Amino acid sequence: MPSPKSGVPVHGWRWQADRGWLRRGATAGDDGAFPARYIRVMYQFDIAAGSKAELYHDLQAALDALTAGEADAIANMANAAALIGQYLPDLNWSGFYRMVEGELVLGPFQGKAACIRIPVGKGVCGAAVATGETQRVDDVHAFPGHIACDAASRSELVVPIVHDGQILGVLDLDSPMPGRFDAEDQAGCEALMTLLAPRLAGAAG
Ligand code: SME
Repeated sequence: MPSPKSGVPVHGWRWQADRGWLRRGATAGDDGAFPARYIRVMYQFDIAAGSKAELYHDLQAALDALTAGEADAIANMANAAALIGQYLPDLNWSGFYRMVEGELVLGPFQGKAACIRIPVGKGVCGAAVATGETQRVDDVHAFPGHIACDAASRSELVVPIVHDGQILGVLDLDSPMPGRFDAEDQAGCEALMTLLAPRLAGAAG
């Protein structure tokens, strides 16, 4: 039985093959310990990033495995923010704003404490909701009305999360590097949010 700390990253390993393990083992036993299989999977969780395409392919599979069958939106956003924050390089903020009664409200994230409420149409996040389109900003200083939660941020990617024609919220990624996000990042993150959207709407699939 592998101990949690003995896990060795396995490059090229795929979640798809093992996702059943994660789902079956995701509940602690009577003694509070997670089954060994679950721990093994957790500590083998290493995404091979030979190319950006491979990185997003692996992230998609990992997000699927982490959120499949789970209907709790906060839990799914929290794990998505952690996963993206850990595996996408050069980010200083990774997280979610949720649409609550007509405005964006801070959700689970990784990074510095951030502004709590953003009106639709304000900042990069509000622009994503107002337009219904991803905002990819190479230089946040050149974006009118950008809201600076972390002075280190230089570029930003905000993806609307849409389910049944409704915007549930946005994924917000910040980077200290100007021009950090390209079209491949945009497509990769949009695909991640397409996967996640029904799992934030109480539809555990
Ligand atoms: N920069 C965002 C605000 C959120 S923080 O970056 C976390 C914006 O302009 O909407």
